[in-house]
Amino acid sequence: MSSPTSSAPASSSGRLADEAARRRTFAVISHPDAGKSTLTEALALHAKMISEAGAIHGKAGRRSTVSDWMEMEKARGISVSSTALQFEYGDCVINLVDTPGHSDFSEDTYRVLTAVDAAVMLIDAAKGLEPQTLKLFQVARDRGIPVITVINKWDRPGQAPLELLDEIVDRIGLTPTPLFLPVGIAGDFRGLLRRGEDGAATEYIHFTRTAGGATIAPEEHYTPEQALEREGDVWVTAAEESELLSAAGQDHDQELFLAGHTSPVIYASAMLNFGVRQLLDTLVELAPPPRGRKDVNGNPRETTQPFSAVIFKVQAGMDTAHRDRLAFMRIVSGEFERGMVVTHAQTGRPFATKYALTVFGRERTTVDTAYPGDVVGLVNATALAPGHTLYVDKKVEFPPIPSFAPEHFAVLRAQSAGKYKQFRKAMDQLDSEGVVQVLRNDIRGDASPVLAAVGPMQFEVVTARMLGEFNVETQLDNLPYQLARKTDAASAEELNRQRGVEVFTRTDGVLLALFSDKWRLQYITKEMPKLTLELLVAGTE
Ligand code: G4P
Repeated sequence: MSSPTSSAPASSSGRLADEAARRRTFAVISHPDAGKSTLTEALALHAKMISEAGAIHGKAGRRSTVSDWMEMEKARGISVSSTALQFEYGDCVINLVDTPGHSDFSEDTYRVLTAVDAAVMLIDAAKGLEPQTLKLFQVARDRGIPVITVINKWDRPGQAPLELLDEIVDRIGLTPTPLFLPVGIAGDFRGLLRRGEDGAATEYIHFTRTAGGATIAPEEHYTPEQALEREGDVWVTAAEESELLSAAGQDHDQELFLAGHTSPVIYASAMLNFGVRQLLDTLVELAPPPRGRKDVNGNPRETTQPFSAVIFKVQAGMDTAHRDRLAFMRIVSGEFERGMVVTHAQTGRPFATKYALTVFGRERTTVDTAYPGDVVGLVNATALAPGHTLYVDKKVEFPPIPSFAPEHFAVLRAQSAGKYKQFRKAMDQLDSEGVVQVLRNDIRGDASPVLAAVGPMQFEVVTARMLGEFNVETQLDNLPYQLARKTDAASAEELNRQRGVEVFTRTDGVLLALFSDKWRLQYITKEMPKLTLELLVAGTE
C-alpha cells in the first residue's frame, strides 16, 4: 500500500478529477408501469450496448428476460434486485443504478438514492403523478438530489402538456422547467420543440417511428421556420406553450435545478425511443458530476483523495448456481483497482478486492479500474453491509444510511426444530443484507425473531429465500403492531408495562417500541411525556 497521504500525487489527481468530472451517476424513480424498464432498455440502446431494445432488461413473459433472479420476481413481474448499468456516451461515462419497482422495497430505493448524484423522475403522461412517484420524489428531495423529469408515453392519448406541469407544481412544490416541449398532442407525438433561454423555440426535432421501437428512432432537425411550414398549427401551439412557460418564469436555471427547486422536463416515449437521446444529452450537460462527501465527523473526502467507497446494497442469491453474495459499492474518492487491499472501516479489517464486477441483469463483467461515481459489485463480501465504508490510506467512515420506519411486523419460526441452526444462519445473512430489520427481545427468545418491514413483500422475499437458498421451511405469523418508535433503556421498562406496546432490540442495537396503532402511541405520548419516543427517518410517515 502507498504511504498515508491525504491526497494523491498531482498528475494522478488531475486524471482523477477528469475521470470524476466525466461521470454521471443517476437512478430512475417511478411508479410501477411508468416505463422504467423500457426507458432503461432505450438508454442502453442509445449507448449501443445492445442492438435491439429488450435484450437486457424486461419483465417476465415480455421479450427475453434476464434481470429477474427470483421466482417471486418472475411470478409478480417485478424487479427486486438492484443492478447498475454503465455505458459511455460521448465523452461521458453514465452509471444508471436500478431501483426496485415496488413500494414495498422503498428502503432499498432509499439506499440506492444515497449512491447517485441525480434522479430521473419518470411519469406516465396519462396517469400523472402517482403515489409511488410522490413518495420517491420526497426521498430524492430529502437526500438533496437534483431531479430531471421525463413525461413518458406521449405516444398515447393523455393530458395536455401544461396540465401535467401544473400538477407537479401543485402536488410536489417543484417548478418544472421544460427543455423540450412535445409537438403534437398526447397520442400524436411528432417531435420535440427545443426551448431556448428566453423560451423561444430554437429547433424542431422530428422523430420517425421504427418497427416496434426496437431501433433508434431517426431524427430530423429543422429550424423554427421550417417547423412552422411542416407542422403548421401543431407547431404554433407548442411555440405558444413555450412562451407561456417563460412568462411564468419556467425556464431552466442551473443553480435552482442543483438546489432542488426546479426540474428540467423532457417529453418522451421510451417505447418509441423518442426523446431518449435528449435525456442522455441533458444528463451530460446538466446533471452534476460526482462530488466529495462528508464523513461521520463532517470532514469532507474529496473525489481526488485516496480511494473510498460506500456500500449501498448487498444482494445474495442472484445467481442460483453460485449462491454468491455481492456487495455493491459506490466509489466516493480515488481510483479503484481490482485486487487492491482496502480497509473495512466498521471492522478495521483488510478486504481484498480480487473479484470485482459490474452487474446488469445477468450480465457480469469484471471491473479492473473504476472512478468516483462508479458502482462496483464485490463478490463474497460477507462482512459488508449497506452503509459500510471501504477506504485506503487516510481513514474515513461515512455516515450510516438511516433505516426506514417499519410498518409491518411478523414472527418468523422454522417449521422444524431440527432446522434451527440453518434458520439462524439464514436469518443472520438476510439481516446483514438489510432484506428486513430483525428485532429480538428476551421474552420471545432467539428462535422466533420478529421481522420488521416497510412492505409485506419483504416478508415474502425472506420466506422464499429461506426455502430456496437455505432449505428451511418457515412459518410467518403477523403481529398486531402498526408503527415503531426509537426509545432508550430508561423508557423501555415503562413502555413494556403498557397495553399494545412491546420493546425490542434491533440488530444494530437500537431499541424499538412497537405500537398497536397510532391512537395507542398518541395516548402514551400524552400521558407519559417523559418517555423517549423518536421517529426513525423523518418524512417517511
Ligand atoms: P416499469 O418498469 O416502470 O414497471 O414499466 P415497463 O417499462 O415495464 O412498462 C410498463 C408498460 O408500459 C409496458 O407495457 C410497456 O410496454 C409500456 N410502455 C413503456 N413505455 C411506453 C411508452 O413510451 N409508450 C407506450 N405506449 N407504452 C409504454 P406492457 O403492456 O406491460 O408490456 P408490453 O406487452 O407492452 O411489452
